[in-house]
Amino acid sequence: MNRHILLSVGLSASLAAAMATVGPSVLRSSSPPDDRCGAPPTYSTCNQCHTGTDLNAGGGALVLNGIPEVYTPGQTYIIDVELSDPTASRWGFEVAALDEAGNGAGSALSTNGEVQVSASAGIEYVKTTSAGTSTGTTGSKTWSYEWTAPASSAGTVRFYAAGNAANGSFSSSGDKIYTAASASAASAAEDASLTLQPSQTRVFAGMDWNVEARVREHTNSANDVLIVSRILLPNGNTFPNQGFLLPPVQANLIPAGQLDFTLTHSIPVTAPALSAVYQGFLGRAPNTLVNSDSFAFTIQ
Ligand code: HEC
Repeated sequence: MNRHILLSVGLSASLAAAMATVGPSVLRSSSPPDDRCGAPPTYSTCNQCHTGTDLNAGGGALVLNGIPEVYTPGQTYIIDVELSDPTASRWGFEVAALDEAGNGAGSALSTNGEVQVSASAGIEYVKTTSAGTSTGTTGSKTWSYEWTAPASSAGTVRFYAAGNAANGSFSSSGDKIYTAASASAASAAEDASLTLQPSQTRVFAGMDWNVEARVREHTNSANDVLIVSRILLPNGNTFPNQGFLLPPVQANLIPAGQLDFTLTHSIPVTAPALSAVYQGFLGRAPNTLVNSDSFAFTIQ
């Protein structure tokens, strides 16, 4: 449609400009643009330019390892970004960590020549350098960097990532884009806590969407809790307008225990395009709210 035409005109214009001004430093592959990791409010990913398959449909996966389930303020963690794909031979990624207000959370440090950190509007973007694209590597590629948690508790921190499993054509076509999101909870004062981790925050009508719900018991006693979720629409209404998306999921937590559940939502083919907030609640029967979590997402 019109938007597509505009995009491809914009792209060929910038390619032409890159070629005219010359020099490898202007190549996109040596520094993906900021804010293309699927984070709200733009939800933009590499597939704004890179085409090949639909998002997360290339038979591979992007996984973030090393993100603490509960972070300790000021502590440094080694984060591994692992991208796998059956056919790719060149690789790229971008990650940002945001707090609940959408501001950058903590600080990132590159510890090797394959990773660089840039900043836009107060948010740090960790991403590949030219060397990090590892031309010729097949199967999978892992990058590492360091993330230092905020000095004081900043609520749940969410990591948003996009990866490009590329075909090594030195162009933006024939590439496969994957996304991942992972959450790190602030040390919780509650008896039990809920942390939501969506497989992606940009979802499509007709797809099955998985949201992982992690529940943790912080006390030394056992607790039976229920997990429910719903969608908060831009007009302030909820969907469904009464009750919740799925039947309540019961979690029987052992002392200091943790359980992970996958909440699968089939997005109707008729779903309208919108941006909304997914809300999860952890309760104890009959109706005591113990903890909640939420994240922004968009249907396109
Ligand atoms: C604004 C458009 C645009 C966006 C957004 C973009 N790229 Fe690119 N990218 C390009 C272009 C154009 C090329 C080809 C020229 C070059 O190699 O720089 C390219 C090339 C690449 C290559 C090498 C591809 C190959 O097959 O050789 C990698 C890897 C890459 N980009 C990673 C990324 C990642 C990761 C993201 C998202 C975080 C991203 N790009 C977002 C325009 C873009």
